[in-house]
Amino acid sequence: MRDLLLSAVPPVLGWFRAHRRDLPWRHGRTPYTVLVAELMLQQTRVEAVRERYAEFLLRFPTAEALARASEEEVLKAWEGLGYYSRARNLHAAAKRIAAEGFPSDYAGVRALPGVGDYTAGAVCSIALGLPVPAVDGNVVRVLSRLFADGRVQDAELKREYAALLEEVYPPETGDFAEALMELGATVCLPGGAPLCGQCPWKGLCRAEREGNASSYPVRPEKRERKKVLLNVYVLRFGEEYALRRRGEGLLAGLWEFPNYPAPRDFGETLNTLEAKHVFTHVEWHMTGRLVAARERFPEFVWADSASIAARYAVPSAFKAFLPWIRV
Ligand code: ADE
Repeated sequence: MRDLLLSAVPPVLGWFRAHRRDLPWRHGRTPYTVLVAELMLQQTRVEAVRERYAEFLLRFPTAEALARASEEEVLKAWEGLGYYSRARNLHAAAKRIAAEGFPSDYAGVRALPGVGDYTAGAVCSIALGLPVPAVDGNVVRVLSRLFADGRVQDAELKREYAALLEEVYPPETGDFAEALMELGATVCLPGGAPLCGQCPWKGLCRAEREGNASSYPVRPEKRERKKVLLNVYVLRFGEEYALRRRGEGLLAGLWEFPNYPAPRDFGETLNTLEAKHVFTHVEWHMTGRLVAARERFPEFVWADSASIAARYAVPSAFKAFLPWIRV
């Protein structure tokens, strides 16, 4: 496997230089901007990050600027990106970087809040020129196909691939890390859709030679997501709407429309809408109701639509109901 991987390094580097996508975080990099990009890209599509990255950096161009912001401002700037613990972690990391400088080695990067093995590898390779592999699901897919490796894709396989990559890391550490990601994102696509005809590893890749790239990697069995039924209330009183702040757990600290397992009576229902939102381990099946509230219930915070848009971070899970407050 090592020799095959070693021979696969030059073609993928050459291919990346010719075909890399022009992505906003590939310009004007500093270690801080790399950290921002890699945290944003955790569990989030490149297209979604593409739209938000520049805006975030305009607002918080340096670790110092981010460190000075309030948590509320940071969450607001993160609105819609999901997985908000990343925003909190990035904020905490910025405070540490502002105080102590950007870490200069793997251990220091890995110890930053929100930085796991993959992100540490990406930041070290791209920002610090260190030969630390970044192995996520995309990289596992690319390598399992290169090797026609029929083992189940699990944490152990990831570790093994990371160890193998470490042995063949070229001096162009950042390009190599991003080349593997890029191959997974644009050519070695998941499922039955790999574009083997465009692959720099055509002829080298064992799965492609076998003609069955799409059967790798072998996936572990999926656990079923828990389904949660929620009654969501968009309560209108005059020009204002009721919000409440979420406590501990999922989406902690963000603002939501009041919601309950069982229906409640707050006034006259003006409209209803079914919506679903899928998180990693849970699905929310929501029945939303737009209600003319019979009083300004004091247990909620009340705000008009302009102020909600400007100041309150409302997670995408409630997106389906936002048109009701923007009319
Ligand atoms: N996914 C995670 N990090 C990335 C990067 N630097 N470029 C493209 N996709 C990525």
